[in-house]
Amino acid sequence: MPCFSACFGKQTASPLEQAIDIEEEVSSIQNIKIYPYKELQIATSYFSAANKIGEGGFGSVYKGKLKDGTLVAIKVLSAESRQGVREFLTELVIISDIEHENLVKIYGCCVEGVHRILVYGYLENNSLAQTLLGDGHCAIEFSWKKRKEICIGIARGLAYLHEDIQPHIVHRDIKASNILLDENLTAKISDFGLAKLIPAHLTHISTQVAGTLGYLAPEYAIRGQLTRKADVYSLGMLLLEIVCGRRNRDSRLPPKEKFLLELAWELYQEQDIVGLVDASLNGKFSLNEASRYIKIAFLCTQAAPRSRPLMSDVVNMLKGDIDVSEMEISKPGLLSELSRTYKSTPYESSIGSGKPDDVFLSMNEMSCGTMTFTSIEDGRD
Ligand SMILES: Nc1ncnc2c1ncn2[C@@H]1O[C@H](COP(=O)(O)OP(=O)(O)O)[C@@H](O)[C@H]1O
Ligand SMILES: [Mg+2]
Repeated sequence: MPCFSACFGKQTASPLEQAIDIEEEVSSIQNIKIYPYKELQIATSYFSAANKIGEGGFGSVYKGKLKDGTLVAIKVLSAESRQGVREFLTELVIISDIEHENLVKIYGCCVEGVHRILVYGYLENNSLAQTLLGDGHCAIEFSWKKRKEICIGIARGLAYLHEDIQPHIVHRDIKASNILLDENLTAKISDFGLAKLIPAHLTHISTQVAGTLGYLAPEYAIRGQLTRKADVYSLGMLLLEIVCGRRNRDSRLPPKEKFLLELAWELYQEQDIVGLVDASLNGKFSLNEASRYIKIAFLCTQAAPRSRPLMSDVVNMLKGDIDVSEMEISKPGLLSELSRTYKSTPYESSIGSGKPDDVFLSMNEMSCGTMTFTSIEDGRD
């Protein structure tokens, strides 16, 4: 831990003592690189506006170049996200250990003074939100084959978080801007485990629901009931977006078309799936496969969490190893309907970024005291 002392040096009257104390307590964190703040300042030209690549619910993201030439994405957590160094590092050690082809790699962090900064590998091709679903021109061609690979990649990454690591991780914010693409357009999920880095007493974690409107599973949005199946719901919404090449909500469209899941369900019942698939594919896709993918999206977004498949099954369904043709589906759980019912609740009130897409629903009146974010209750899935 070469820069440990440097990171804590300025914190108290007896920096050496504290550094030694913290070093002992977090002895398991050798595998996390601790970056001095100065190094990250230099890497980002002093966090210049030109290097800023995004802003999300937890803070700002900058592109940076480290001393050794490595390109990184530097996420500066906002003031609300501060917590003690020890707690922060203890949580970070869990996610920094995780490695998978479809998960964004975290390189390390900076915990100097009040700063809480995460350093990730930089992904050249940005997020699905900006490329496939963005408003501007996109040079990437998302062929049907590529879309299938992306869907399978995301599903594999999420299956890994849900089923292959202990304790399991519920992502809580699966959405197009958290799917990044590397130079080969391999999909990588970002921001997993991030909720764990935010102190419960400072933010929404223990009393509110965090997520993004449009992707939120109804039972999570309304009752704060968090299981892996809430992620499966969000994944289903994302699958639909990838096949259809549009966002799950688009207020510019006529009322009937605004909500993608609602529209898709209607067309599916009328057996008019062709019109749903992204027109930019110019018909170059297999209708059978597209129908299958849309059906899988419906399975994932079923109203009852129990009716949604496990992520490992979703992977096999997408690959065609599990046949979904005979599977019964009922109407998906539509949050748009619920939001009409619950219009008086603060659905659009957001904390953090202030972006209308981030929704933090106040759950104060609801019972979610047992919500945990790394472990989940299998019985409730
Ligand atoms: N590792 C990364 N590589 C490249 N771009 C990234 C990376 N992480 C985040 N970004 C960009 O920064 C933006 C903001 O990220 P974030 O703070 O996670 O907010 P959100 O996920 O809500 O968009 C993302 O939409 C993406 O464009
Ligand atoms: Mg993100």
